[in-house]
Amino acid sequence: MAIRPIRYLGDPVLRQPAKKVRQVDDAIRHLVEDMIESMYAAQGVGLAAPQIGVPLRVVVLGMPDEEPFALINPVVVRATGTRRLEGEGCLSVPGYRGVITRSEKVVVRALDLKGKEIRVRAENNLLAEALEHEVDHVNGILYVDRIDTKTDLFKLDSTDWATARPIEEREADEDEEAVTELSSGGVSSNG
Ligand code: NI
Repeated sequence: MAIRPIRYLGDPVLRQPAKKVRQVDDAIRHLVEDMIESMYAAQGVGLAAPQIGVPLRVVVLGMPDEEPFALINPVVVRATGTRRLEGEGCLSVPGYRGVITRSEKVVVRALDLKGKEIRVRAENNLLAEALEHEVDHVNGILYVDRIDTKTDLFKLDSTDWATARPIEEREADEDEEAVTELSSGGVSSNG
């Protein structure tokens, strides 16, 4: 296993729709091992393969106090209801959190590490949020695309979410371009 470096906003690999995995073989299982190790090293609860520079439709999820697992070729087959969530973050957008609208119930269809089709269901919890977030990643979408960056994106002054201020309250020159200029540092809790 190996910890692989996280790619940040601005890296084109995060923006291209990832390729479907044709066969769940040892190479994919090895990739998943590295992804899980990289996710934990970065203190994330989810990670998609493009985030370590691999343009494949593979994601891993690691909810607190639960066994991590992988989803190959994940597709959101059902997403119902809406809820507003505070504090969504992304390992590829370090130092920021956002307020975002996510679904209440999420059903994802995918393959497991044996190549067997599975369905994962989650409702009103961190897993539901992370499933939508990670499937977005393999489609080249980042959570910052889904929020109003003027009012709903917060830059963290410290690791404490409670001290964060909206971007718009900051200096004008830090305003909209702050996110795209950011390339390292900070802490993130999501994926
Ligand atoms: Ni992410």
